[in-house]
Amino acid sequence: MKLHEFPRYQLTFGPSPIHPLNRLTAHLGGAQMWAKREDVNSGLAFGGNKVRKLEYIVPDVLASGADTLVSIGGYQSNHTRQVAAVAAHLGLKCRLVQEKWVPWEDPINDKVGNIMLSRIMGADSRLDAAGFDIGIRDSWRAALQDVEEAGGRPYPIPAGASEHPLGGLGFANWAFEVAQQEKSLGVFFDTIVVCTVTGSTHAGMIAGFAALEELTGVRRRVLGIDASATIQQTREQVARIARHTAALIEVGREIRDDEITVLEGWAGDLYGVPVDSTVAAIETGARLEAMITDPVYEGKSLAGLIDLVRNQEIPASSTVLFVHLGGQPALDAYHRLWSAPAETTSEVKL
Ligand SMILES: Cc1ncc(COP(=O)(O)O)c(C=O)c1O
Repeated sequence: MKLHEFPRYQLTFGPSPIHPLNRLTAHLGGAQMWAKREDVNSGLAFGGNKVRKLEYIVPDVLASGADTLVSIGGYQSNHTRQVAAVAAHLGLKCRLVQEKWVPWEDPINDKVGNIMLSRIMGADSRLDAAGFDIGIRDSWRAALQDVEEAGGRPYPIPAGASEHPLGGLGFANWAFEVAQQEKSLGVFFDTIVVCTVTGSTHAGMIAGFAALEELTGVRRRVLGIDASATIQQTREQVARIARHTAALIEVGREIRDDEITVLEGWAGDLYGVPVDSTVAAIETGARLEAMITDPVYEGKSLAGLIDLVRNQEIPASSTVLFVHLGGQPALDAYHRLWSAPAETTSEVKL
């Protein structure tokens, strides 16, 4: 099937906004930088990248007759918050497994931000002590069984909706949306920079842009910035999902190895734990553009973008699109990075 033939249940407002990052561009003195804002893509609990993925999964949920969405993530998972939002929107129940993916010791880490929003929306969110892993977990299988034993009909949505067979379609469609917006803006983005962890956001884009390349002959670079700190697993997952999605939407050829680029260097040692470059990037984006990013995902990919532009690995002649995938609701759990000005780790001088 071609991409436009897959059923899509609209959860977003429509195309997400694209705007120039003029002050950041001037500050770095290199490539022209723009942002596409998935953090404001929907009215459902602040939106984000999972809402797009779920647009292609919801038709399957509705066809299945399920009454409960079951998913998994860390305590501050944006994904589970978006699953809870979609469940509320559809009038379904929601059971969430929230694991201790991040060793961020703060008494409010499992109480505020994303997890609080999920609870406000009526999700049954339960904590589990297991650590970070983007694969399929026993705790999640147990949650599915629990729902069944209680007489419910669960619909499983894996971490980040990435291992779901349709998980790459949302961002394959995103690639077509970008091409459309380029026409009306009169601009061409030769380089896309995106945060990658469970992989289907980046992988979907790779498949979508490959389909476009087949139609138009136009090539561009999609650079994934790893925020998982388990680079090998993320690389493999991106490659696998990109190839699966490309086959699903009948791109008509194999995805080449040079289309799959996941860069390391900004994740630090641990998923969810910010490093100095993360905090510096968050402050740079906020102080120059009032563009708020988070310490788990977008702060790390923004740090990557800033370095790549500064070092001219993305040349000054480029026009680059930074993809903001959301994630700000987790910020409160990281309040101590900024709660005492004297202790801030900021190295940013603007
Ligand atoms: C804000 C944000 N950015 C980036 C990502 C990474 O996306 P993916 O898991 O599809 O690689 C996620 C989710 O994991 C996220 O919530």
